[in-house]
Amino acid sequence: MSILITGGAGFIGSHTCIEMQNAGYDVVVIDNLDNSSSKSLERVEKITGKPVKFYKEDVRNKEALRKIFKENEIEAVIHFAGLKAVGESVREPIMYYDNNLINTISLVEVMTEFNVKKIVFSSSATVYGVATQMPLVEGMPLGAINPYGRTKLFIENILTDLFTADNDWCVALLRYFNPIGAHKSGLIGEDPKGIPNNLMPYISQVAVGKLEKLHVFGNDYKTVDGTGVRDYIHVVDLAVGHVKAIDWALKNKGCEAFNLGTGNGTSVLQLRDAFVKATGVEIPYVIDPRRPGDPDEVYANADKAKTVLGWTAKYGIDEMCEDTWRWQKNNPNGYED
Ligand code: NAD
Ligand code: UD1
Repeated sequence: MSILITGGAGFIGSHTCIEMQNAGYDVVVIDNLDNSSSKSLERVEKITGKPVKFYKEDVRNKEALRKIFKENEIEAVIHFAGLKAVGESVREPIMYYDNNLINTISLVEVMTEFNVKKIVFSSSATVYGVATQMPLVEGMPLGAINPYGRTKLFIENILTDLFTADNDWCVALLRYFNPIGAHKSGLIGEDPKGIPNNLMPYISQVAVGKLEKLHVFGNDYKTVDGTGVRDYIHVVDLAVGHVKAIDWALKNKGCEAFNLGTGNGTSVLQLRDAFVKATGVEIPYVIDPRRPGDPDEVYANADKAKTVLGWTAKYGIDEMCEDTWRWQKNNPNGYED
């Protein structure tokens, strides 16, 4: 029996392949490589010593999905495949709705045909919209403030409706906070195309000399030092969260959302300082205006994942910085090196 991992060649997917294999699961990956390289999967195999069966296909392609379900005994699916850049989603909303929504609908249709009714979905803390209270708890009101966020919210609703209609399903909606870090081996990590939008990849590209300095987006937020506060979570902790969610889904029926975060907030300048301390590399910065739409603080209450899934994050900010740096230093141009 195998677990199908859509988007498994990507940043979180490749780390999840490792943790799934380490936990004894066989994995099959479908990825169209739009935002990744198959080298990540070769490196997964090198790290675990176990094969990853890979299909270079688009999840919207139902015939390709049927072939995979025919050729493998799939017992559950982890669904990472999707587009994830907020700014791009504002410029190209239809591309986001087409990819993220249609691929999910195709996937659950084919899963239904093959009577596979266990799915773990990559949602995001973005589904809380503009929250007025921290930490975020699963039962709080939801909303979306951009097309990317709306795709996540719609998909949560689609999967919830699916469970309502057919209680044989088990759906885990995993709401990630801010994943950073990399596998300890330094062999796999985040490999953004072009100039990174997100803070940690930006810092690490300054460190490696590809970018000149960090632009801190605003220092007048209502936070500890005026810069934005987020709940950074080590990608390996996040990957282990998927193993726990699969363990749970295989034994249960239901539809539940889980926050996967550490519960700790770290500001932009605190993360920059931690990176300098962990690596010994100076990160020059300037203070720029706020980025539109950025909230002051976002952090999780992750008690439900602990109680129901038996999962808690164990890595701290220092390890997130050290591990990001090991990957970036060894692979300044990502998988192109
Ligand atoms: P990623 O871009 O590295 O991985 C996504 C993978 O999906 C890529 O390998 C891409 O090639 C593939 N893909 C996209 N559309 C596809 C399609 N139609 N068919 C087949 N493959 C397709 O991104 P990631 O950071 O690993 O994120 C994985 C998931 O987690 C995404 O759904 C993302 O929205 C969600 N998420 C990410 C973050 C984050 O900060 N990285 C936060 C919250 C949620
Ligand atoms: C962003 C997305 C969010 C998505 C998440 C994970 C936006 C508005 N939000 O969240 O929907 O789920 O990524 O992919 O894009 N910062 C700087 N300088 C930079 C980059 C960021 O100061 O060059 C600051 C930001 O203002 C923020 C913090 O760093 O305070 C974290 O930013 P980022 O890494 O982009 O993550 P989020 O904004 O939390």
